[in-house]
Amino acid sequence: MAPRGTSTACWRSASPPPHSSAHAVTAVIAAAGSGQRLGAGGPKAFVPLAGRPMVEWSIAALRAAPSVRSIVVACPPGHVHELGGGDLGVVEGGATRSASVANALAAVGTELVAVHDAARPLLSAELLEGVIATLLADPDADGAIAAAPVSDTIKLASESAPPADRRLRGSPPYGEVNPAVSVEETLDRGRLWAAQTPQAFRVEVLRRAMEADPERLAAPTDEASLLEAAGRRVLIHPAPPENVKVTTPTDLRLAELLLAER
Ligand code: CTP
Ligand code: MG
Repeated sequence: MAPRGTSTACWRSASPPPHSSAHAVTAVIAAAGSGQRLGAGGPKAFVPLAGRPMVEWSIAALRAAPSVRSIVVACPPGHVHELGGGDLGVVEGGATRSASVANALAAVGTELVAVHDAARPLLSAELLEGVIATLLADPDADGAIAAAPVSDTIKLASESAPPADRRLRGSPPYGEVNPAVSVEETLDRGRLWAAQTPQAFRVEVLRRAMEADPERLAAPTDEASLLEAAGRRVLIHPAPPENVKVTTPTDLRLAELLLAER
């Protein structure tokens, strides 16, 4: 099937690898972001990290996962031909992360899908298999996500008069003196989890959730939140501390160190 919203010319694939299991999964990698906060001068997924483009660490981990039958990568326009290799499908990403995932999802032919961000290059096959096993352990569940218990004390804040541009960004810049932001309450940390990827889903349920609410789909959020909004059951699989996300140059240095230890 051709990826939705893209030309068929950018779809490249070949036969799936031979290690298909009873619960075959297609892995989708969201890799089409521009990486503005990293500021590396090019798309984050293709920034060199410990000797290879960042996205290739995730591809390698997914290839090592026995449940993964095929991999589809949503790439930034202009980069779809940079990823090669027999078992890889490549589609052009969209303007938002959700649009990129939707484009890749159109090419998924298995009943289960695992969505992963290229920005989490410390992914392991073990974590991916753990998330899938969690989903499969409960027939009533439609999704399972990697997540980490929150270690900071989390405050819910309100802003009395945020400048219009700050509303869009969601938070003031680091170090800026800002007397307009005040604490409203402290949340119960015992119940808080930081959502990560990979996130595994029953494909048809995810497709329906994505189609049901185009407005929510446009928001920069994760796939699990679409299922939650549809009243579906999403399980949590605790992630190891090293499954960090590369957002800033500091994160990139941390990822370099962690990968060097492998
Ligand atoms: N992503 C995507 N398509 C987009 C935007 C983001 O596939 N239109 C992917 C990114 O490539 C990344 C993941 O979604 O792997 C998480 O997004 P984020 O960390 O925000 O990456 P960027 O959007 O690239 O970074 P920034 O927000 O700093 O520009
Ligand atoms: Mg982004």
